[in-house]
Amino acid sequence: MHGTAKVYSLKDGSTVTIRDANIKDLAGIWKVFSSVVEEKKWIPVLSAEENDFERLSWFSHHKNAGSIILVAELEGLVVGHCLVERDDWDAAAHVGNLGIMIIAEHRGKGVGDALMSEAIIRARDEGFEKICLSTFNTNLVAIKLYKKHNFQMVGVRKRQFKMEGEYKDEVLMDLMLNSSK
Ligand SMILES: CC(C)(COP(=O)(O)OP(=O)(O)OC[C@H]1O[C@@H](n2cnc3c(N)ncnc32)[C@H](O)[C@@H]1OP(=O)(O)O)[C@@H](O)C(=O)NCCC(=O)NCCS
Repeated sequence: MHGTAKVYSLKDGSTVTIRDANIKDLAGIWKVFSSVVEEKKWIPVLSAEENDFERLSWFSHHKNAGSIILVAELEGLVVGHCLVERDDWDAAAHVGNLGIMIIAEHRGKGVGDALMSEAIIRARDEGFEKICLSTFNTNLVAIKLYKKHNFQMVGVRKRQFKMEGEYKDEVLMDLMLNSSK
């Protein structure tokens, strides 16, 4: 299935295409990322001022490492993306670390659900055995999405981040892709 595009239905009856990202998507991916950083609520990144060279390096690093980078495309525009990053540790190459984000005006329609479904299918296809992720304790929408996709809460790092002067706990969640383990 590598490299194929899949069409998912959304709650309003329209559709979204989920596919592997390519270099031409980098501007769209960064637009989504920068807008989420600017919201200062959801991810522990304070600035998104990467240049073209850094974006390309990010893309090649993940492609070479065997990570999965998916984009959600609505009417030709990248409105969200999901990274399943192959863990850096040699002995954790069976583990993927997941990050997902949708641009604010397209949330709540089912795009996140579609990206998450496809990311799990692809991770399993590509031999990952486990997906890990983390989120702020205050991100109830994300926690609900992850629980819907059977992620289990495995721990909490108290006061792990400080955003806009407010401490946030980091909620750690895992999904085992091989249910017998
Ligand atoms: C979290 C996020 C990816 C969800 O994507 P989305 O496209 O808005 O979500 P969807 O419309 O596909 O909804 C999927 C599920 O998420 C949950 N959800 C979505 N919107 C919700 C809301 N307003 N309130 C509660 N749960 C909600 C529900 O479980 C929903 O499934 P359901 O409709 O069957 O109940 C998206 O809101 C986002 O990008 N947020 C900002 C960035 C972020 O927080 N990223 C994760 C950081 S760890």
